[in-house]
Amino acid sequence: MSRQHRPDTEIVHAGRHPEDQKGAVNPPVYHASTILFPTLDALEAAQKPSDDPHRVTYGRRGTPTSFVLSDAVAALEGGAGCVLTPSGLSAVSVALLGLLKAGDHLLMVDTCYGPSRNFCNGMLAKLGIETTYYDPLVGAGIDALIRPNTAVIFLESPGSLTFEVQDVPAIIAAAKAADHRIWTVIDNTWASPHFFKPIRLGVDVSVQAATKYIVGHSDVLIGTISANAEALPAIVKAHGDMGIWTGPDDMYLTQRGLRTLSVRLARHQETGLALASWLQARPEVARVLHPGLPDDPGHALWKRDFSGASGLFGAVLHPIPRAKLAAFLDGLEFFGMGWSWGGFESLCVPQHPESIRSATRWRTDGPLLRFHAGLEDIADLIDDLAAGFERMAAA
Ligand SMILES: Cc1ncc(COP(=O)(O)O)c(C=O)c1O
Repeated sequence: MSRQHRPDTEIVHAGRHPEDQKGAVNPPVYHASTILFPTLDALEAAQKPSDDPHRVTYGRRGTPTSFVLSDAVAALEGGAGCVLTPSGLSAVSVALLGLLKAGDHLLMVDTCYGPSRNFCNGMLAKLGIETTYYDPLVGAGIDALIRPNTAVIFLESPGSLTFEVQDVPAIIAAAKAADHRIWTVIDNTWASPHFFKPIRLGVDVSVQAATKYIVGHSDVLIGTISANAEALPAIVKAHGDMGIWTGPDDMYLTQRGLRTLSVRLARHQETGLALASWLQARPEVARVLHPGLPDDPGHALWKRDFSGASGLFGAVLHPIPRAKLAAFLDGLEFFGMGWSWGGFESLCVPQHPESIRSATRWRTDGPLLRFHAGLEDIADLIDDLAAGFERMAAA
């Protein structure tokens, strides 16, 4: 696109070039490994460095199918470029491997996605990279945790499972005030690049499990890593050196999902807030964890930095025996029980952050449920939950 447009327009048009594909609205799906060159000159030119981000030399180095998606996500994130990975978790791991080396220290938010923590404790530790977990609410106090070898601060906001909102500008300011270069990386999956633009706030790298809202239909695993101009070369190099690639059909489905992201997110947001407010008023519920609710501890920061909320939130129930929880969950008609989120269907699963955290303690007496508000009718979802609470009372 020739200039910056309003967000809904950008989602529909970013990265698309129908004029290059005989007018077809969507990009062709290139199933390509070998790329043929007509002459020795052309073959040798393809081996030399180039400033053309859309040069096609080998399937793994980019095709017109991958460029549409990576250009669109980079534009929405406000990055200088973007690479695609086969899952959200691989986007986290490739970003970290690109920016860290043996002997470095990583500051990782305690509320990160659980498998991101496993990657730090396993692979990074094996490579001689030490991880310190920090309280998501540390804010400017992160400066006390910075060491001479701290190379990356990783954020995820709101946090996985418990939805604490981080003071992203305060953490960036602390990273920039250090007397050596510290990269900042964020897992921006909850808000998607539609509702939060961390690179515009000064974060170097923004990671998406595009598996969730960008794909939106629970049928593809894919990740994106968008970076500012300073961090991009290290990310592109790690991605290339490790031979990371993603199937073209999955890229295609992801760019197709992206085009409806804003209308889907508006509905996820509306339904999520409606369910969260309804749950707040229920006697079975001790606390709802949703930064979009005015009385949530993270509401002020969320309102300052985000332009919307997705449909993922939590609710802590008053203590109940497991049989009552099972009676509630097992009979739900529309809320499926399963991992992942961001699709068109509603979900509800119990979560156990107390067994994961190390820098902070998550203490509640009752079970924590994670809800994903899908695109069903709100009244049907509320009826479903109300019937669940009746079963719970009867069990
Ligand atoms: C916040 C967050 N980041 C990353 C991931 C990983 O995404 P994927 O399942 O595509 O590897 C998930 C998956 O649930 C997630 O919730």
